[in-house]
Amino acid sequence: MTRPDRPGKSPLFSPRDRDNLRWLWHRYMKKRAPWLGLVLIMIIIQGVVYQQFLSITENGLRVIFENGTMRELALVCVAVFFLFGIRALMAYLVPRISVWVSNGAIYEMRRDLISHMMELDLAYFERTKSGEIIQRIVTQTQGLGHFIGLGTANAVRDAVTVVIVSGYLIWKNPVLFTAAVLVLPFIIWVMNFVSGRVKMVQAQAEQALGDYMNGIDETVGGMRTVKISSQEAVETARLEKGTAAIRDLTLRVQRTQALVMPSIDLSSAFVYVLVIGGGGFMVLHPDFDMDGAGIITFLLGMVLVFDPARLLAQFLGSLQSHIVLLDRVRGLYLEQPTIFDKPNATTSVDTRGDIVLDHVRFCYSDDQPLFDDLSITFNGGNISAIVGATGSGKSTILSLLSRLYDVQGGQITIGGTRIDKLTLAALRGAFSVVAQDIVIFNNSIWENIRYVNPDASDADIWRAAESAEISDLIRRRGDAPVGPKGAHLSGGQKQRIAIARAFLADAPILLLDEATSALDQATEARIKSALARLTAGRTTIMVAHRLSSIVDADCIYVLDAGRLVEQGTHSDLLAQGGYYSSLYETQENVSAHLAQLDPDGTT
Ligand SMILES: Nc1ncnc2c1ncn2[C@@H]1O[C@H](COP(=O)(O)OP(=O)(O)OP(=O)(O)O)[C@@H](O)[C@H]1O
Ligand SMILES: [Mg+2]
Repeated sequence: MTRPDRPGKSPLFSPRDRDNLRWLWHRYMKKRAPWLGLVLIMIIIQGVVYQQFLSITENGLRVIFENGTMRELALVCVAVFFLFGIRALMAYLVPRISVWVSNGAIYEMRRDLISHMMELDLAYFERTKSGEIIQRIVTQTQGLGHFIGLGTANAVRDAVTVVIVSGYLIWKNPVLFTAAVLVLPFIIWVMNFVSGRVKMVQAQAEQALGDYMNGIDETVGGMRTVKISSQEAVETARLEKGTAAIRDLTLRVQRTQALVMPSIDLSSAFVYVLVIGGGGFMVLHPDFDMDGAGIITFLLGMVLVFDPARLLAQFLGSLQSHIVLLDRVRGLYLEQPTIFDKPNATTSVDTRGDIVLDHVRFCYSDDQPLFDDLSITFNGGNISAIVGATGSGKSTILSLLSRLYDVQGGQITIGGTRIDKLTLAALRGAFSVVAQDIVIFNNSIWENIRYVNPDASDADIWRAAESAEISDLIRRRGDAPVGPKGAHLSGGQKQRIAIARAFLADAPILLLDEATSALDQATEARIKSALARLTAGRTTIMVAHRLSSIVDADCIYVLDAGRLVEQGTHSDLLAQGGYYSSLYETQENVSAHLAQLDPDGTT
């Protein structure tokens, strides 16, 4: 789901922000309400402590000014110390509880985000930069955690202090207080101005950071290509551009936020002058009930109130950037998968039946139609092969069978059951797949094979490894991890791990996409005979460029730019003298030519 871009300047909380906050509250905070209530009570106690401090101080000052007893003075001192003891205890407990609460909420949020992400369509990951996803799950949730925990607890503490202490000051001297807060509208105006700016710049900064992380991810992941093509300088320059963009945006955020403090400093100076001048006038003038202790306490109260007010203003300034974070994180939740189990999806499917593509229409993007009206029947129990030029749509057919993407027209059935009527687990469990681009995790070879069936016994894994001719390597490498994305393995070794996975998965239908393309012919021949045992009686669909490896298929389907142009056995197709036979002849000529160049067959 896409949502319209955020406007640069908007009211403090747009309807969308309110919706996000409601969501945050109901999903993560409501159940923690008792703890939040406890924190609030402790915060109120902190505020009351300040008010009591002021009132006791005023009395203490009168004791001094009006020649009270030493005992009275000592009592005042003890009371002040006691009050601050309570405040210290609260100052210890409030962050502890609030961070504990927010950490719990963030833990849940990350857990939900990750499981939600797992549900999303493959297409989402193909159009979204990985950096953006990492950023949402890692840094943005972290920032949000601070916001809903300590950040807000501190802000509430400051707000409560401001309210209680100002309330006390108003009660003491409403005229003086009113004069002092005349500067308030000015502060609010500055806040509004700044928060609009911060909101806009922060959104840009988040975007830039996501692009940056993605850039690093891409460069690091593609380091082999970067080095071979000597593009280090270009990559460095590209990343440097991102580095500079972040530096500039951070400065811009800071520049706008920096306006907050000086404007508040100036207004507080104005207030102090007003209190000293106005209060002093009241003391000197006989018409007012104001003494020296009163004015000192009032000034102290203003000092006590100004720091929290300043922090509160700062919090409100950064509130917008946290609202942007919330919006980003929520955005990932709002992405909806389109491929999921239908409510009454079945698990029963005749995996020995025919696999039929019936008038299938599919394209990756609107401007790139791939299949317009493709109909193919792969006979159950047979070995079918798909051949065709690169980009003709062979791998896409296999992806459609396992519903990595959904067809946009027509239907696909297995044994008469529409695949979208099956649960994804049942459908995908019906296939053993060796994909064209093999994904290897940075784990041991053993664990990489086991990945497709964690419950498999050691004996099963050994058997699969033997069949895929990878067992010797397992013995040699032991538990050593194979490097990120299998960087410590050769292409053929990765392919054999993928084949071992297919053996281990032992599913009723086998999909092989260029499964043996990276193997030498002797290894390929040995694996082929093991595969033949595996495929006996099972439906197998294989894609191959090397036509010599599919001549035995029961039926060969020839694809050209998303259309089925020929089908039949190898000899049928040769006899037809069409596209396939010309493809085959070309390959034969090339092999003959190579054989001439290298009569021993050593390459
Ligand atoms: N994830 C994707 N997003 C967008 N377009 C894609 C995607 N995957 C493939 N395509 C496009 O769809 C077309 C068919 O791709 P496909 O991978 O099915 O070809 P193929 O026949 O398997 O080719 P090859 O022999 O090179 O493996 C190509 O034009 C390709 O650019
Ligand atoms: Mg392919």
